[in-house]
Amino acid sequence: MNVVSFTQMKDGTLEDYELLHELEVPYIAGTADRLLAELKRQGEDTLAGYKVSRLEHGLQSATRARREGADIDWVVATLLHDIGDALAPQNHDRMAAEIVRPFVREEVTWVVEHHGIFQTYYFGHHYGWDRNRREEHRYSPYYQSCVDFCARWDQASFDPDYPSLSLESFAPQLKEVFARKPYDEAVIRPGVVEGLPPL
Ligand SMILES: [Fe+2]
Ligand SMILES: [Fe+2]
Repeated sequence: MNVVSFTQMKDGTLEDYELLHELEVPYIAGTADRLLAELKRQGEDTLAGYKVSRLEHGLQSATRARREGADIDWVVATLLHDIGDALAPQNHDRMAAEIVRPFVREEVTWVVEHHGIFQTYYFGHHYGWDRNRREEHRYSPYYQSCVDFCARWDQASFDPDYPSLSLESFAPQLKEVFARKPYDEAVIRPGVVEGLPPL
């Protein structure tokens, strides 16, 4: 039977851990499909009070990125930038960042990780918050990319009449990104600033 002998990890044998390692490979390969299933499920989440679902917001943001000529790292990360909303609403940006971190350039992960603070520029003042908290990150090389991400793709994507592309149309790019070698230096390119494509 394809199960381990132990009930406590400390008692596992080499054979147990070889079996787990073998079974982990196809499981990890299924990550992209599980992400797609979660996004699909979020089509049923009503974003309380908003005119669009969580899925529609992600699709709309990613569609804008694609139509403006953004590269694959931007498009896939933009599709996923709010995937943590259902399970970690107060720190959903960091949750999404951890999902994409091994597979996209550092700049893109940083933008996903910090988009929550940068996004408050558009509404924080209505609650009496400091809408300029993004200035805490003024000296990051990725500051302007995050400003642009929020302005062009995130804050703009709550429109029920926008002609978004389908989730299926993003599946090949999402699968390609999650099939990359994790933490590949050639992908992560620490410190490199590409920015958003020029308008
Ligand atoms: Fe967000
Ligand atoms: Fe968002």
